Amino acid sequence: MYSKILKPILFRFDPERVHNWMTSLGEWLGSNSLTRSAVSAIYNYRGPDISRTVDGNTYRTPFILSAGFDYNARLTQILPAIGLGGAEVGSVTARLCEGNPPPRLRRLPHSRSILVSKGLRNEGVEVIVARLEKRTRTPDFVVGISLARTNDTQAAEVEAGIEDYCASLKHCLAHKVGDYYTLNISCPNAFGGETFTTSVLLKKLLEAVKKIPCAKPIYVKMPINLLWADFNNLLQVIADYNLAGVIIGNLNKDYSALDFRDEAPAQYVGGLSGKPCRDLSTSLIRQTREHYGKKFTIIGCGGVMSPADAQAKFSAGADLIQLITGLIYEGPGLVKKLCYDLSRKKI
Ligand SMILES: Cc1cc2nc3c(=O)[nH]c(=O)nc-3n(C[C@H](O)[C@H](O)[C@H](O)COP(=O)(O)O)c2cc1C
Repeated sequence: MYSKILKPILFRFDPERVHNWMTSLGEWLGSNSLTRSAVSAIYNYRGPDISRTVDGNTYRTPFILSAGFDYNARLTQILPAIGLGGAEVGSVTARLCEGNPPPRLRRLPHSRSILVSKGLRNEGVEVIVARLEKRTRTPDFVVGISLARTNDTQAAEVEAGIEDYCASLKHCLAHKVGDYYTLNISCPNAFGGETFTTSVLLKKLLEAVKKIPCAKPIYVKMPINLLWADFNNLLQVIADYNLAGVIIGNLNKDYSALDFRDEAPAQYVGGLSGKPCRDLSTSLIRQTREHYGKKFTIIGCGGVMSPADAQAKFSAGADLIQLITGLIYEGPGLVKKLCYDLSRKKI
């Protein structure tokens, strides 16, 4: 129904507008048990146990909504009903971010991608944490919080940027909100660029983060457009600081990865999600697993739009999988399909 009826209608409208409608609808559906049960009856997974416990958190299924969809944490009550085992909310910043000027999202349908230039639009850590404090927890549904540097001139310098990440983390911890935290160092469309994607500056950031007592796992969201040597330098720093793991990875900045190059503008205006991320992220997952063995948790992310894509990421060494664009192109039923295929050992 989604592919044949709903998607062709939704894809006629501006993507951010559709996203806002879907968020409002999802928030309403999550607000009472009747609508939650109705959604669950259609979309939830009810097969054999496929739960996974990773770094102390139990995910009822190993599929997680990736950061950027529920960036203001309004959907945590409904997402368990579509078979997800968790959601990473945010990215959240210390202060409110309006984001980049619109258009912030464009669909590239032939290339099965979205061009993202959101610029970390979100309501800021205080509002989002307060919202999460009010929610009812769903057992074995993990809520991670993606933390990024506020997208403004005030946080653009290194020291101010570090302060910004630390302020958000401390706020989450003070309110006991979040089952894990992700340091998003790789947003490709924020003011000041990806400052912390060099090993020297990442070290500075992790040195500051280390001083904050945190019993929950901390992951780093990795950029995928680095050469292996540079990527590995970042992994080495993450290993030295004993973080729990990495999410591999963020959006693709390379437009030559598009199946239909003409769908995107000639100049860079934002990162690509979906299929253009798929093989690059899978290959980095494989290399990370080969080089670091079981040292890290690896959360595989990028272009999971079918059971075969999920299978490739698990085979490469991912412990868990995150996705967004697959849900937009295939609909919420994709998660149920992934879960059943996993339970039947087809993945
Ligand atoms: C609309 C949109 C917004 C995003 N915003 C964020 C964000 O705020 N923080 C982040 O770490 N990643 C963000 N991402 C990147 C995704 O989390 C993910 O890494 C990327 O899209 C690849 O996964 P996918 O192919 O399953 O979408 C965003 C992606 C999309 C499509």
